[in-house]
Amino acid sequence: MTLLGIETSCDETSAAVLTDGVLLSNVTAAQLFHAEHGGVVPELASRAHQRMIVPVVDDALRKAGVQRAQLDGVAAVNGPGLVGSILVGLSFGKSLAYALGKPFVGVNHMEAHILSNLLESRKPSFPFMNLTVSGGHTQLVLVKAPFDYVMLGETSDDAAGEAFDKVAKMLGLEYPGGPAVDKRARLGDPKAVRFPRPALDHPGYAFSFSGLKTSVLYYIRDAHFDFASPDTTFVNDVCASFQAAVIDVLVGKLFQAAEEHGVKDVCIAGGVSANSGLRERAKTEADRRGFRLFVPRMEFCTDNGAMVAMAGFLRLNGGRTSSLEVSAEPNLALTAS
Ligand code: KG4
Ligand code: ZN
Repeated sequence: MTLLGIETSCDETSAAVLTDGVLLSNVTAAQLFHAEHGGVVPELASRAHQRMIVPVVDDALRKAGVQRAQLDGVAAVNGPGLVGSILVGLSFGKSLAYALGKPFVGVNHMEAHILSNLLESRKPSFPFMNLTVSGGHTQLVLVKAPFDYVMLGETSDDAAGEAFDKVAKMLGLEYPGGPAVDKRARLGDPKAVRFPRPALDHPGYAFSFSGLKTSVLYYIRDAHFDFASPDTTFVNDVCASFQAAVIDVLVGKLFQAAEEHGVKDVCIAGGVSANSGLRERAKTEADRRGFRLFVPRMEFCTDNGAMVAMAGFLRLNGGRTSSLEVSAEPNLALTAS
């Protein structure tokens, strides 16, 4: 079964071709111009998706050596995300499936992040514990089987990636903030400032990053940070200390949940799973506590068509196709799909 997967829920236009669970190509066009606006501008994002969708899909098919007519189905994200952006990939995917007379599969973007763990040859076994950390979401999910998820905890305010982006902005760093903070954190002292880890003091698996973000803001303000000539050591130390707080919370809750639910395999997905400090710490903790850790390669951490093709493949294989009436759902819940 050969499937095309399309991802356009935020600022990456991406398409991938997958045959029987094996990835043949994954092509991503990132919209780097949002950097000059300090964040994703929804209207510009959807216009860029319109410009890029045909060349990106054509490139993915060409790299896979697959003709459109050879596709057995088309999968595209229908939520959650920016409605104007989702609509571009979704409309394209539905139209292509209709024109080819092949099934269409609407894919939940958060489910696709979870299933990105299955793209690698070393795969987790079900059930596994998954932490999805992206720009829009922080979700701790017990994955019993494909399509069988238990949402254990989400963030009550900012998503982890959003906190990275906002802290980067406070320090005058480039967008996207996650990689910018990650880079500085490697050069700084994680113990320089003791920022709060509020969620760790509460039982359960709810996350909250807004208090931490405000603490960083006050710390920077009280230090009379000079944007015109930033003190490199100060920036590196704040990045390292902020990142250490986020990692303590994420890793603490993830392994606490894994222990409580008796799973052996633990996964991290989503854009923030590209964070080098998080990857290192999670690996150390997994080894110490006797879990197997799975984190997809960088290309599959941030938004990509490959994870959509994987989710679409499992859905199609399980007879779960979508009607061409399926609409873009900016707030689509994981369990609703
Ligand atoms: O999953 P993703 O590509 O898009 C969403 O669905 O949101 O995640 C993007 C988020 C952004 O907030 C970005 O700053 C963050 O992932 N990110 C990182 C790193 N690389 C990307 N955060 C921390 N460290 C990184 N290395
Ligand atoms: Zn994402």
